[in-house]
Amino acid sequence: MTTGDTSGRILVIGGYGAVGSAVGSRLEERLPGRVIPAGRNEVRARRLGGVRVDVSDLDGLRRTLDKLGDVRVVVLCVEPEDALLARVCLERGIHLVDVNATRDLLDAVADLDGVAAAAGATGVLSVGVAPGLTNLLAHRAHEAVGGAQRLDVTVLLGSGERHGTDAVRWTVEGLTEPVTAAPRSVFLPGHGTHLAYPFPFSDQHTLRRTLGVPEATTRLCLDSRPLTAALFALRGTGLLRGEHRAPLRRTLTGAFSRVHVGADAFALRADAWRDDDHAAFALTGREQSRVTGLVAAEIAGELLRGQLPPGVHHIEQLPDLADVPERLAADGVRVLRRVGG
Ligand SMILES: NC(=O)c1ccc[n+]([C@@H]2O[C@H](COP(=O)([O-])OP(=O)(O)OC[C@H]3O[C@@H](n4cnc5c(N)ncnc54)[C@H](OP(=O)(O)O)[C@@H]3O)[C@@H](O)[C@H]2O)c1
Repeated sequence: MTTGDTSGRILVIGGYGAVGSAVGSRLEERLPGRVIPAGRNEVRARRLGGVRVDVSDLDGLRRTLDKLGDVRVVVLCVEPEDALLARVCLERGIHLVDVNATRDLLDAVADLDGVAAAAGATGVLSVGVAPGLTNLLAHRAHEAVGGAQRLDVTVLLGSGERHGTDAVRWTVEGLTEPVTAAPRSVFLPGHGTHLAYPFPFSDQHTLRRTLGVPEATTRLCLDSRPLTAALFALRGTGLLRGEHRAPLRRTLTGAFSRVHVGADAFALRADAWRDDDHAAFALTGREQSRVTGLVAAEIAGELLRGQLPPGVHHIEQLPDLADVPERLAADGVRVLRRVGG
């Protein structure tokens, strides 16, 4: 990313959260004075030179955008209820980078493709680690076998990382969704072999559509094998499901947000299968929230330079973003091809 070559500022909503603060600090290094952090806490936002924004108050957002006047990119680092916020931005010709990981929400934002194209705005979805880097690895594996018939994506997260509350809430909610595939034993570089369990990451749904792969499953494990086993045993009991279990899910979210046992390294792997052919790519790094923010910052920088086509796209649909993993080498992200096991 080069600096100072275009005008306009970048509004980072959720800008002092775990992901948003990584977006903000990377962009501030490269585009000083052009980042506006935002969240519901006005005092906190203002202390960072930002503004108050609540994603559930669209009139308030419109007024803020009018007042700021020169926002060209919004980076959304908190999950709104629906796609209306995305619509407000794209209709105004403001580019959008969305780190959300919920399938239905991503589908609703993807449906705004025509709105974005008409306004000359670009929306980029599946931004972050999973979805995000997983989509890019899966794309590589898919190409390596000449078009996959099946994709298996595996995500290992460090149980010692300070994951943001919104991300932990998302993960706990994911434990309530029906299970559609079997666990799989997978070798992950730097971590050995782990049993990973199907988990509702959005990438598996997106990849079926964007790559035309008939079967795709994403699985999750933690670096701690006992913790992984305990988490998925809890899912198996069904105790977390249902509206009446919301308090239990909130308690679990609070506990996971506070307790940090283990390391902060993560690993990703994508396996593509076509008849007898098989290709696997893996990626390792530290602090998935930070790396999610760095991916979002890379894309926000490209959008500010006007280098991506109008419309709404998932990351793997934009060839200019195919090398994002390599761009993060200096940040400790390492890509491996044809990993063993
Ligand atoms: N794609 C990926 O790989 C990936 C990875 C990690 C996380 N994520 C997603 O990124 C999002 C953020 O995760 P995180 O770990 O950064 O969570 P976090 O640390 O809890 O940060 C969320 C931020 O959003 C703000 N916020 C909450 N509700 C808001 C609202 N209604 N309006 C405006 N701001 C609001 C919070 O501040 P206030 O409460 O003060 O408003 C906070 O600054 C989550 O949706 C998560 O699923 C994606």
